[in-house]
Amino acid sequence: MSTAPISLLEPQSGEEAMMLDIVRKIVAEKVAPRAAEIDLKAEYPNDIKAIFAENDLLGIPIPSEYGGLGGSFLTYVKVVEEIAKACAASSLIVAVQELGMLPVMIGGSEQQKKAWLPKFASGEWIAAYALTEPGSGSDAAGSMHMRAERVEGGYKLNGTKIFITHGNVADSIAFFAVTDPSKGPNGITAFLVEKQFPGFKVGKREHKMGIKGSPTVELVLEDCFVPDSHRIGAEGEGFKIAMKVLDKSRPGVAAQALGIAEGALTFATNYTKERMAFGKPISQQQGLQFMLADMRTEVECARLMLYEAARKCDEGAADITYWSAMAKLKCGDVAMSVTTDAVQLLGGYGYCTDYPVERMMRDAKITQIYEGTQQIQRLVIARNLVGKWKPTGKG
Ligand code: CAA
Repeated sequence: MSTAPISLLEPQSGEEAMMLDIVRKIVAEKVAPRAAEIDLKAEYPNDIKAIFAENDLLGIPIPSEYGGLGGSFLTYVKVVEEIAKACAASSLIVAVQELGMLPVMIGGSEQQKKAWLPKFASGEWIAAYALTEPGSGSDAAGSMHMRAERVEGGYKLNGTKIFITHGNVADSIAFFAVTDPSKGPNGITAFLVEKQFPGFKVGKREHKMGIKGSPTVELVLEDCFVPDSHRIGAEGEGFKIAMKVLDKSRPGVAAQALGIAEGALTFATNYTKERMAFGKPISQQQGLQFMLADMRTEVECARLMLYEAARKCDEGAADITYWSAMAKLKCGDVAMSVTTDAVQLLGGYGYCTDYPVERMMRDAKITQIYEGTQQIQRLVIARNLVGKWKPTGKG
């Protein structure tokens, strides 16, 4: 009997194979036919969310004792990728549920996990993650203004978060706020805010280039009382929780990017086999063949890197931070270049909304920006190589 390890490209178990079959069927029958309309109407697709919830896609990596599927992280990223091949906005329904519940999974007490994780897994609660502020994007710790003041029985939160994916449809949102400004990153604390808490307000909704079916909003907290029971982790642990969450959520964005790239490449390849020019299909022009070959090579490189990063998340490897940043960097850049080339391969048709590749190109751009820009991924990777410079005060 062969003892060779199964390639990460293959399903790792019968459960994973079954899950991916179910997802491919849902995508073909329910998601793909809706993708253009979701983009055009810029509507959060409640119907798709309900189908994902019915099929247990919202709690794949949540352990079964907390109501989830207890699946691997690798299965989770493969599911996000499958959905994103047809509709990037729909893939965020799964990916942002993961992002928003991770603070509880990583920093929550046993009691909080038992109370909240089943609600995320079933879809009873839609989740969101609120870190970014008007003056604080890349410099998430140094420029944070949201304050949490200690009061009897809990905290009073004041401040504004922006660019919060699903903030207007979420039932509970992980917020990060400064409890002790003298301590820098170690003076930030995490909280779970439920939408019915007095003082919680949804502000402006952004009008975006892509992922239009995935709403992005401002959230305002005005003297919002958050009870002690809703503080996640100890005071001052919030920034580390936020960073550990991003270590595990960036592969989700990478999976979305990879799915978009694969969707565009498949469409463009088929198109070149049909489209005739100079008496033969354009796929027979060497210039275009070289483009297709480069696109395929880049997509496969990105996939291998992402699956390895996901495997490391499953193992709790020490170098997750480094690998998830590299996977997000590679997959985001590949998504942008492959979708741009796909538009080029379709020529004028590629630029028109009758074909999906222009939507895919618009959707790809955000994967180079959110959950840390590509420049921040490079900073994280470089710090793992050479360390963070700490001035000593000596010449
Ligand atoms: N795991 C655990 N701890 C970590 C960590 C990690 N991955 N990264 C940093 N830390 C710890 C550090 O060890 C340090 O702890 P000590 O003080 O005890 O030494 C502390 O956190 C502060 O870290 P740094 O000194 O590295 O902090 P920094 O301010 O120099 O930079 C950064 C950190 C990497 C630039 C970080 O701010 C960052 O990732 N910025 C980008 C933020 C981001 O990705 N935002 C996206 C928001 S989410 C989004 O887009 C969601 C959406 O809706 C889809």
